[in-house]
Amino acid sequence: MCGIVGYVGPKKAVPILVHGLKRLEYRGYDSAGLVALDRSGARRFRVVGRVQNLDTELFGQDLPMTSGIAHTRWATHGKPTENNAHPHTDSSNQFFVVHNGIIENHDKLRLQLEADGVVFQSETDTEVLSHLLAKFYDGVLEHAVEKTLHLVEGTFGIAAVTTHEPFKIVVARRGSPIVLGLGNKEMFVASDVSALVQYTDQVIYLEDNEMAVLTPDEYAIRTLDNRPISRKTFQIDWKIEDSDLTDFPHYMLKEIYEQPQTVENAMRGRVLQAEGVSKLGGLQAKIDEIKKLRKLILVSCGTSYHAGMVGRYIFEQLTDLNVEVELASEFRYRKLRLDETTGVLALSQSGETIDTLAAIREARRKGAITLGLVNVVGSTIARETDAGVYCHAGPEIGVASTKIFVSQLVILNLIALLIGRYQSVSLSEGMALLKELQELPNLIQKILAQAPLIEDIARKYHKAQSFLFLGRQMHYPVALEGALKLKEISYIHAEGYAAGEMKHGPISLIDEAFPTVALVPRDATYDKMVNNIQEIMARSGPVIAIANEGDRSIGDLVDDVIYVPRTHELLQPILSVVPLQLLAYYAALLLGREIDKPRNLAKSVTVE
Ligand code: M6R
Repeated sequence: MCGIVGYVGPKKAVPILVHGLKRLEYRGYDSAGLVALDRSGARRFRVVGRVQNLDTELFGQDLPMTSGIAHTRWATHGKPTENNAHPHTDSSNQFFVVHNGIIENHDKLRLQLEADGVVFQSETDTEVLSHLLAKFYDGVLEHAVEKTLHLVEGTFGIAAVTTHEPFKIVVARRGSPIVLGLGNKEMFVASDVSALVQYTDQVIYLEDNEMAVLTPDEYAIRTLDNRPISRKTFQIDWKIEDSDLTDFPHYMLKEIYEQPQTVENAMRGRVLQAEGVSKLGGLQAKIDEIKKLRKLILVSCGTSYHAGMVGRYIFEQLTDLNVEVELASEFRYRKLRLDETTGVLALSQSGETIDTLAAIREARRKGAITLGLVNVVGSTIARETDAGVYCHAGPEIGVASTKIFVSQLVILNLIALLIGRYQSVSLSEGMALLKELQELPNLIQKILAQAPLIEDIARKYHKAQSFLFLGRQMHYPVALEGALKLKEISYIHAEGYAAGEMKHGPISLIDEAFPTVALVPRDATYDKMVNNIQEIMARSGPVIAIANEGDRSIGDLVDDVIYVPRTHELLQPILSVVPLQLLAYYAALLLGREIDKPRNLAKSVTVE
């Protein structure tokens, strides 16, 4: 979704702003803009489409300014046009603002401003902010920001500047992330650390209802009620090289191939093989409360929700907890009865998904213990949960989440084992699970080596209008995830279904042009899955099976088969999902899609 970058210091601001916007491109956007300032005034540039277009617009311009703010916009109010692109300004072109989030009462504020004679230049909710800044300015920008934000309902991460104080940036947040980057006599700001890693590894996250004033030499944080805040500095734990493409054509492919390493990173220092248990430092502070839990609710969205669905089976197998799994966007509106014997575990790559964050806040309000399983260190969900575990998977840039799903499944096993070993899981069961967990990186390598075969299968079927993905038990969410991957990057319609539901409706869709991907591991559901496959084939539906190595009979039955190694039942989804990721990737590639930035999608969904 929208991205913010800001710089104030001794260097030329424009190249830093443009570079920062490029680092935020993966989040999804449809227009871009920046404003740069010095004592002589401000220059604003805005374009529809890619940051590359902004580069073209800026080419050959003499822009010595040393401060500025920039933005990538993902349209919510008004089409992606130049007029709607940020930064927005007031009628005198002296106040500029970039904004992530939604101003819910913008209609009312707009009418009041129009009654005062203000003429609006865009259809956005954001523009009211720039006019309000001009209205309230008393010579100190932060006073105007404070007064403006007191009138605002909704969510915001903003950065504001004025030509009256060109070497100052004021930022504020409520619901949309803002992170300050601390340099040597220079300050940076962004909505996401990936825009900052090239310049500094020292960052500070603003909390809701806080603002910060940045000048080259210092920063000051205070609440929107004007209480000064002192906040600890975070050290970013990844480097700029981690977010480079290296030799891969797309981030999604790079991240699929990183998965053996992702699994190792998820396990590093967390496996106590001889004791058959895991060690998770991030849960230690709350371990007494965690031991007393009777119920666990897993909340998340998208791919993280599918990981949560697999997690339900893992926790049911390894612990005595009652386990529920729910979409965060639904959970937060339910009539919930929670107390301190309920744990609510939020799964999120970004740690910023607004629905997941709201679910956690609702759970905490009602007295539950909140836990996080998050990739981005220092993100809002990571900070706001009572305890949690990081994926330590490095940045995931491709909009289609891949390596984080695998990382989440590994860590769900580790969390469930930690709890389960206080309950009924035996030493030998724990040791067996951990032993097989440590084999996974090699087994994933074996699947990756089959990429040419999977590409051939994608070539055979990529012109299909629709795909069905079927699985049972733990492989039902894997089927959902396979369908999500295919639809989001190839735009082929795909549905994931619990195979037992086939006969209750979807079977009417089957014909020779409608391929089914069937997940058919050698587990307790095997025979039933084979029956489902037979039913599809009897209706001339092509079937691609994801089966365990050595399962010749499936190979003889279906049109195409991709074999994956067999592992512990609770770990099998970690292997089964890899060919589905590759299948989606190659189908999208053959269809010429923009794989890392699929249309309409954003990497981190920070609006409801
Ligand atoms: O950052 P999160 O894990 O909270 O994000 C949740 C979803 O927005 C995300 O998984 C989305 O569905 C991806 N596009 C899936 O590939």
